[in-house]
Amino acid sequence: MKQGILLAAFGTSNPRAHHVLDELDERVRAAFPGLPVRWAFTSAIIRSRLADEGMKTDSVTKALRKMWFEKYRAVAVQSLHVVPGAEFEALEADAMAMCCAPGRADGFQRVSVGPPLLATESDVERVAEAVLRHQPRGRMPEDALLLMGHGTWHAGDSVYDRLSERLADSDPLVFIGTMEGTQTMDQILPRLLDADVRRVWLMPLLAVAGRHVVRDMAGDQPDSWKSRLQAAGLECRTVLEGTAEHEGFVDVWLDHLRGAMDRLNAG
Ligand code: CO
Repeated sequence: MKQGILLAAFGTSNPRAHHVLDELDERVRAAFPGLPVRWAFTSAIIRSRLADEGMKTDSVTKALRKMWFEKYRAVAVQSLHVVPGAEFEALEADAMAMCCAPGRADGFQRVSVGPPLLATESDVERVAEAVLRHQPRGRMPEDALLLMGHGTWHAGDSVYDRLSERLADSDPLVFIGTMEGTQTMDQILPRLLDADVRRVWLMPLLAVAGRHVVRDMAGDQPDSWKSRLQAAGLECRTVLEGTAEHEGFVDVWLDHLRGAMDRLNAG
């Protein structure tokens, strides 16, 4: 049975971030030699923005359909999202809809889906270790480290809290805030001020440093996280590197893909 891998990222229109995804592509090919690797972007907004710039990208459904026409019959789909939120659920539903549906001529014999970065308790542990290992080099022990996640009103948001608690056990000056959800800058800022820190390092908890990082985290407009920290009298340093640029996080995604590959071949 012809097998392949489909990597599904939220997507980005930032050229530097595309370079990061290219490197991730190489790591996946090196880990699974001989298996073709395809890509899908789950965000329809990003896909249409890229289409306007003349760059063709596929949704999960479209990418799988193309693979089916090329005679692939078993595909491991790996999510490159951070938390199991709405984006991941839609990806999983789209992928499974292509599999084994009775009476469907275009159904794959097998499809398996690898979960996002923070899916299990052991992921929380490994990601916490990766955060501590890949923290900014210039950070002093008295500096705070604030990770910016996307956040969501989906129940998947609670995994940020578990990661935050785990990190606080190792280092009480590491914080996690999100753009949406329950721990936004409004909640985090008073905690930073309470902690009596002078300098805050901002680092994304997002796969790639796209628009959210460049604009919403590190931008110069008054509502960026950097500007809000500075307005509160804190010194702010920004790191413009997504988690997909750091081995400790990539290893977790790769292990999830390994699990998806095993499920594909089981039984
Ligand atoms: Co967003």
